Amino acid sequence: MSGSVLVVGGGIIGLSCAFEAARRGYKVTLLEPDRIGGQASGAAAGMLAPFSENTEQPDAFFQLCLSSLKQYPTWVNAVEQHSGISVEWINSGSLNVFQHEADLLPVQSRLRWQNKWGARAEFVEGSALKGIEPNLSQEAIAAIYYPEESHVYAPKLVEALEMACRNLGVTFFERAGDIQSIELIRGGGVSLLTSRLLEEVRAERVIICSGAWTGMYEKWLDISIPIHPIRGQICSYEGSLEEVRHMVFSSQAYWVGKKEGRIVCGASEDVAGFETSVTERGIKRLIKSSERWFPFFSGRQTVHQWAGLRPATTDGLPLLGAVGEEKSVIMAAGHYRNGILLSPITALLVGDLLDGRSQSASLLPFSPYRFTYACNN
Ligand code: GLY
Repeated sequence: MSGSVLVVGGGIIGLSCAFEAARRGYKVTLLEPDRIGGQASGAAAGMLAPFSENTEQPDAFFQLCLSSLKQYPTWVNAVEQHSGISVEWINSGSLNVFQHEADLLPVQSRLRWQNKWGARAEFVEGSALKGIEPNLSQEAIAAIYYPEESHVYAPKLVEALEMACRNLGVTFFERAGDIQSIELIRGGGVSLLTSRLLEEVRAERVIICSGAWTGMYEKWLDISIPIHPIRGQICSYEGSLEEVRHMVFSSQAYWVGKKEGRIVCGASEDVAGFETSVTERGIKRLIKSSERWFPFFSGRQTVHQWAGLRPATTDGLPLLGAVGEEKSVIMAAGHYRNGILLSPITALLVGDLLDGRSQSASLLPFSPYRFTYACNN
């Protein structure tokens, strides 16, 4: 069992960790209770947008997001090389658009701190804005342009990572059923039982990447894991990269043009337990925003509507780190709105934990123990 690693969760984070562990020579098994990429990952718009998603300050989370963005070129290259599948990475840049003069008050301080961190962001308005995003409504009075932000096609990234893992010899247990128990074996190793597999699965180390479902491990790991699902409803239209040239963020929605002739519009944030259906209200709000910010959408029907569950912790930060005396459990969960962006850095950090390489203090804010200590103090 030397060097054996069990990854639980076949979303983008689980696949990325499995890929990285396999690349580093571990014998990897990936177990997914349901369908590979069936939850938040498959539902994502694939935005790599640390500046648009973090507008307040350069805190530890922003820095994690930024270092992950910097890993993307090498990461995508490795995934594409190992899989032979393009993840449709588009360096579109993004626009954060504003409608009211009052919205512009915090813009200068945002530009100042973000440009210190390499955003190369610019304030654009009037004819300059019209010139770079011609179909935006006249209601958009100004925008911040982020040339460094980009996007991938999330379902392709899932497909490519799965293929890369298979090519590296990862064993897959898909539709393995619910996790029934996980036991830390004295002296090292873990054993996991599911409702569908007839035998327990054993490995030296386990990486828990169960997204919104990660809270269930509280009872076995004896730590507090406050992760809950936040539903994101999303829809897409037929449309071209010419019609929406950048990723465009407004305060109510965002739009991302994809290569296969779709424009994705997301995403609501609501609490609906583990429900992944869309609601008329949720989709109507996206349609209304689309027609307001891009009048050409008026009368155009959505071609697809779906929802995914973002795994949110109560402080908004992911859980990244080892658990247990033997450090046989590694948590990589709770990436909330940024799972696609954070997949390379998460996989690299998890790979370093597996290798026993010392972790920098920068992982402390993401400690899986932080909620347990807070409860006990
Ligand atoms: N990252 C975008 C979203 O979660 O909707």
